[in-house]
Amino acid sequence: MRKLRVYLSLMFALILSIAAVLVFLDSGLSIAFWLVALVAAGHFYLSREGKCTHFVVWKEKDSVGIASIDEDHKKLFNLINNLQVTVMCDTGREFEREALDQLMDYTRYHFQREEELMRAHGYRDYEAHKGQHDQMIIQTRIFIDRYEEKGRAALPEVVNYLRLWLLQHISVTDKKYTPYFQEKGVI
Ligand SMILES: [Fe+2]
Ligand SMILES: [Fe+2]
Repeated sequence: MRKLRVYLSLMFALILSIAAVLVFLDSGLSIAFWLVALVAAGHFYLSREGKCTHFVVWKEKDSVGIASIDEDHKKLFNLINNLQVTVMCDTGREFEREALDQLMDYTRYHFQREEELMRAHGYRDYEAHKGQHDQMIIQTRIFIDRYEEKGRAALPEVVNYLRLWLLQHISVTDKKYTPYFQEKGVI
């Protein structure tokens, strides 16, 4: 999808250049007008589609090889998307608060589940992994306090941090335990 957007942008740039040459040569003004209209319509389409890049969709490549943990991660992606909706549209204080609380409650639940699993199987990187979880909770608490103070103006920072943190944590730190748990027969 991103590649398609780049190709379309390049194509629009080319069409605009042709329109500019036609205007400069003072010929084919009506053709130039239609070319510019085409680019404007394309730009409108691309900017609408671009907003979707703020949402996260769980894909098979995100799997850590343990079904229950994958289900948790999917749920967290959905809760982050809920929070993203509050950034894009003014859904009201109650909805914002609920989206934040649900995401934080489920994150804590998920961290506990992962940590119990690591402890139960003597995972060697348990302390470092738990440290990342704890740090994330502390940082998010700071963002939520900022939200309490500033209201919805503080939401983009919260959701951007949570989305990037989660994607990075799953793809690097969580995935590190996959071979270890597979060896222990955890699925
Ligand atoms: Fe996780
Ligand atoms: Fe984790």
